[in-house]
Parts: sequence; structure tokens; C-alpha cells
Amino acid sequence: MRIAFFDTKPYDKLFFEQYGEQYGVQFKFFETKLTLDTADLARGFDGVCVFVNDTVDAPVIDRLQSLGITTLALRCAGFNNVDMKHAFGRLHVLRVPAYSPYAVAEHAIALLLTSVRRIHKAYIRSKDFNFSLTGLTGFDLHGKTVGVVGTGKIGRVFINICRGFGMKILAYDKYPAPDLAQDGTVRYVSLDTLLRESDIISLHCPLTEETYHMIDASALEKCKKGIVLINTSRGALVDAEALLAGIKARKVGAACLDVYEEESELFFEDNSGHILEDDTLARLISMPNVIVTSHQAFLTEDALSSIAETTVRNLVDFARLGQSPNELCYRAGITSDCRDGKCFS
Ligand code: NAI
Repeated sequence: MRIAFFDTKPYDKLFFEQYGEQYGVQFKFFETKLTLDTADLARGFDGVCVFVNDTVDAPVIDRLQSLGITTLALRCAGFNNVDMKHAFGRLHVLRVPAYSPYAVAEHAIALLLTSVRRIHKAYIRSKDFNFSLTGLTGFDLHGKTVGVVGTGKIGRVFINICRGFGMKILAYDKYPAPDLAQDGTVRYVSLDTLLRESDIISLHCPLTEETYHMIDASALEKCKKGIVLINTSRGALVDAEALLAGIKARKVGAACLDVYEEESELFFEDNSGHILEDDTLARLISMPNVIVTSHQAFLTEDALSSIAETTVRNLVDFARLGQSPNELCYRAGITSDCRDGKCFS
């Protein structure tokens, strides 16, 4: 089986080549992202493999279909870059629903600790033999209230780590998990209460029409002064302009961002020799209390290996059986895991 692999980075190749060889899947690695302009590169392949910032909108889906492509393998969990409504009946969309929730949750904690203990400042100072502590005062996480939005796989791991720090935990989820609140260490509350009572808020829900800009000016207005916001989910959960205004107004104490609304043209690439056109991102990065990483939370050896193995197995299973438990299906206006492999019926 031959698969056109878009938006390739050096760290992708190692594990995809390894599992590809093991399962008899041959990848052609393209550095370019999938867009309408590049879709023709998929001509003659048996399927296409893409990541979070490839474009899989209606025109791209139509082009892939015209090339005879029927299988699209996402090497990620989120699928907000795929027009699932349009894909229904045209493309089988496979994904990696879980790889390492630890990778993402641990990165969220790394950002939080870096921020509240000013490690990013201390690192630069000590490199310059500046051992002054002035301006590096942080605060204990112990006893603070953390609000976790989205208590799925990653949110749960994040909560477990916060338990270890002795934090009070509030949670909000559209579909609360009763078992999580059983031992009394986690309290499910409304989003409003979470915003009002948390010292730290970490986002772990998907980007949907409903969650788009869930942290906007009015949400930030409800937060405590000095709120620390962590976003390792999807950029557009947060209205970046409103966040910037909240930082300037000293309402937001710190922001830890692994994702950014307009990241697709910037993140994962070396832009160090270019003039940054995005003033909002430039201003955010310039703030002493903002830490930005470029969608790096998934990037552990464990996660990369698991992503590659699941993606390859998805492709092989689908080719052999015509169905996969990791196929996404859009029915009745809802995208969910496909239960019966009848997306094309
Ligand atoms: P999951 O599906 O296990 O959990 C998501 C949770 O969000 C579920 O409990 C669901 O009920 C909840 N949810 C859905 N709609 C909601 C709403 N409107 N309001 C509040 N909660 C809602 O997903 P998982 O694996 O925990 O991943 C969470 C997110 O993390 C993904 O959607 C993805 O955007 C992001 N992610 C980021 C990565 C990175 O490298 N930065 C890597 C992997 C995932």
C-alpha cells in the first residue's frame, strides 16, 4: 500500500518508516502541507496521511475524490481541520483517538510550573551569570484551585498530576464523568463557577462550534484577577485579542499557550529569519508572563511511536476489513467514531 504523507517533519519519518516496514505500508513523504494547490501530489497513491494544520476542506476533499483517493488517515486525535460533513460518503477518515495523554498533560504542567516559578526568566539570567532573584517570586500550587475544562483522557491525567500537588480541583465538561467526582477530590461545576473560582484554568476540550472562543472577553471578565490560563488543546478555544487585552489590563496573571488561533501558517516552522506579520502573536510573545510553545505538547518519543503504529494499523485494518474502530463518521449532524463501517452507504 502506498500513502502520500503531507506536512512531513524529520521526527515523523523515524517511526512511520519503522511501522510502515513492519506492516507493509510504503510512505512517500512530502514536506508541503495538503492544500488545494498540493492535493494533486496524491495522484496514484492508495491513501493520504495528514496532520493538524493540513487543509481538508470541501474543495480538497473533492479533488482527492477525483484522484480516486477514498482513505484519509489523520495522524492526530483532533479533526477540526476536516470538513466532516463534506467528507461523509466521499472519504473514509481514520484518526488516532488516543496516543499519550501523558505527553500533553505533562506539557501543560511543564508550562504551568515554568510560568509560576519564572523558570524561563531564571534560565536566561543564569546563562548570563545573573544570579539575582529579584522579580522571580512565584507562588505555591499547593492549595490553589485549578479549573479543568474537558475531563477526557488528557484532562484526567492533568487532574491526577494536580492532585499530587495538593490542589483543589474544579471541573467542567459537557458530559461529566461520574466516576471522576466519586472520591470527592474533583467537583464538577458550571463553566461560570469554574471561571469565577479558579486560580488556574487548563483547557482540555475539543474545538467545536460550541467551544470556539469559549475564553473570550466576557469569560475573562468573570475570572479572578491574576488568573493563569493554560491552553494545550486548540488555539481557537481562546480569543487571542481578548487574552491580550486581559494581559494588558493586568487581569490575566499569566498565559501558557501551546496552541494559537492562527498557528497554521507559523507553528512547526522556523520563522526566525522572517518579519512576523501577526501582531497579536508578536505582542503576546513579547509579554513577560506569556509562554508560547509551538504545538509541542504531543512531542514525546512515546507519543510519536504510538501515533505511527496506530495510523499504520488503521490503514492496514481498513484495507483488509473495510472498516476500522478509529474511523470517524458524520451522521445526523454529529461526528463520532463509526460503529458499523457503513459511512459510504
Ligand atoms: P477526549 O475526547 O478524551 O476528551 C475531551 C473532553 O472534552 C470529553 O470529556 C468531552 O466530553 C469534553 N467536551 C466536549 N465538548 C465539550 C464542551 N462543549 N465543553 C466542555 N467539555 C467538552 O480528548 P483528549 O484526548 O483528552 O484531547 C483533548 C484535546 O486536546 C483534543 O481535542 C485536542 O484538541 C487537544 N490535543 C492537543 C495536543 C497538542 O499537542 N497540543 C495533542 C493531542 C490533543
